[in-house]
Amino acid sequence: MRFLARLLSAVIPLSLMLVGPSEAREWNAIKQSGTIIAATEGGFQPFNYYDGPKLTGFEVDLAEAIAKKLGLKLEWRVVPFDGQIAALKQDRFDFAIASHGYTAERAKSVDFANPHYCTGGQIAAHKDGPLTVAALDGKSVGVQLATTYADAAKKLKGLKAIKTYKGDPEAFAALRANKVDAWISDKFTVKATLDKNPDAGISAGEMVFVERVSMILRKNNKELAEKLNGALAEVMKDGTYKALSEKYFKEDISCR
Ligand code: ARG
Repeated sequence: MRFLARLLSAVIPLSLMLVGPSEAREWNAIKQSGTIIAATEGGFQPFNYYDGPKLTGFEVDLAEAIAKKLGLKLEWRVVPFDGQIAALKQDRFDFAIASHGYTAERAKSVDFANPHYCTGGQIAAHKDGPLTVAALDGKSVGVQLATTYADAAKKLKGLKAIKTYKGDPEAFAALRANKVDAWISDKFTVKATLDKNPDAGISAGEMVFVERVSMILRKNNKELAEKLNGALAEVMKDGTYKALSEKYFKEDISCR
């Protein structure tokens, strides 16, 4: 009996170490540590991007405001967009805020917080290029990998090719260099990119779809979801959200 107990006490922790923690941190663990860990990408202006060495943007500031409401310090993990859901499932951070639009497919593996903005995918092309869905017939489109823009492009009929890029800066560069005929991205990202590159000769075209964007977290991490939603509601109520939205977009981009 004693032998069996000793054997089990040696084997159980070992097997736990091998599989690693099977759950994302619960609220209590986060609260006790005093720090919440958030992931973002850093390549999606004006939501999450680098200004020189500084990680900034609407979502970066919003997450800081949310953490403050929760009485926590915020630690950032910068993770490529296409790897974020897998990394979340491996508990490498507590939540991600990187403009994830709600999709039924994603909702199978992660939970979505309440939306922190509403937006849509938009076409951009050279001024004389394909600026409407109809005009994309027979043309090539560049999109960021693993995005709802890639999903939308797959649904368009008659495209010559869909080329995927690690990030939107790369997709935009490909359009500039005529490696693709059009680029589909978030309408605010298109605007920010075109504002910064007025000489590129590129215009924003037709909207392709609309979406609601949320923070994502581990499935069934219920208390953390409640805390994030509660803090988001508070910053939306006390004017913090509005001020940040005005700063980055000169308008309120919340879902109404
Ligand atoms: N909204 C799009 C989606 O849900 C794109 C998000 C891209 N985010 C980023 N940080 N690059 O797929």
